[in-house]
Amino acid sequence: MIVTIDGPAGAGKSTAARQLAQRLGFEFLDTGAMYRAVTWYCCQHKIDLADPHAVADAARRMSLELVDDRVQVDGEDVSLAIRTPEVTRESRHVAGNNVVRQFLVELQRSLAAGRNVVTEGRDQGTVAFPHAECKFFLVADPRERALRRQRELEQRGQQVSLEELLQQQSHRDQRDAEREFGAMRAAEDAHVIDTSCVELEQVVAQLERLVRERIGG
Ligand code: DC
Repeated sequence: MIVTIDGPAGAGKSTAARQLAQRLGFEFLDTGAMYRAVTWYCCQHKIDLADPHAVADAARRMSLELVDDRVQVDGEDVSLAIRTPEVTRESRHVAGNNVVRQFLVELQRSLAAGRNVVTEGRDQGTVAFPHAECKFFLVADPRERALRRQRELEQRGQQVSLEELLQQQSHRDQRDAEREFGAMRAAEDAHVIDTSCVELEQVVAQLERLVRERIGG
């Protein structure tokens, strides 16, 4: 069974998807980590991110493994290295590269084949798994999302103003939503869930209830 969770950064997707997978006894697939890993590899090997062919070649060449929440590129653990602000910023080139998108979608399908998986990203319910049994699209108020991001950065010792975060976030949302392929949008059959004023625990409980209803029905 495939459960997809899509939505913008800061809507709580990642934590909700991890916890939901744990509660259901499903595997968890973080597809954002794949785009980040390709970005990291290109930065590391000085590959011009603005050159779509070079980036697509790099994605095909590198070995990418996702094992128990750890991400490995050519055998090296890059789980932390792919979370830097530089990788976050530069990942837009990889996310906008259609050849890479097709390649990663194939990889996502092969990783999920015959398994019970909660998969999280932007295009999981629309492009990667249009026939998924249960689809969610998490949203949250832009200010609340930026506040969450600010708290997360503060925990890592970084101070960024709310205005700056709101601006970056709105650019990213626009790019994600307007992409030619794999644009971020809710599938027609997705449950759209607003997480703005709800504790994460309650969000996960709601997702679990909806999945169990689907399994039962
Ligand atoms: O969710 P995240 O911040 O880890 O995503 C990293 C980048 O990958 C970001 O630019 C959005 C992009 N992405 C995507 O285009 N499609 C996905 N299924 C997942 C992430």
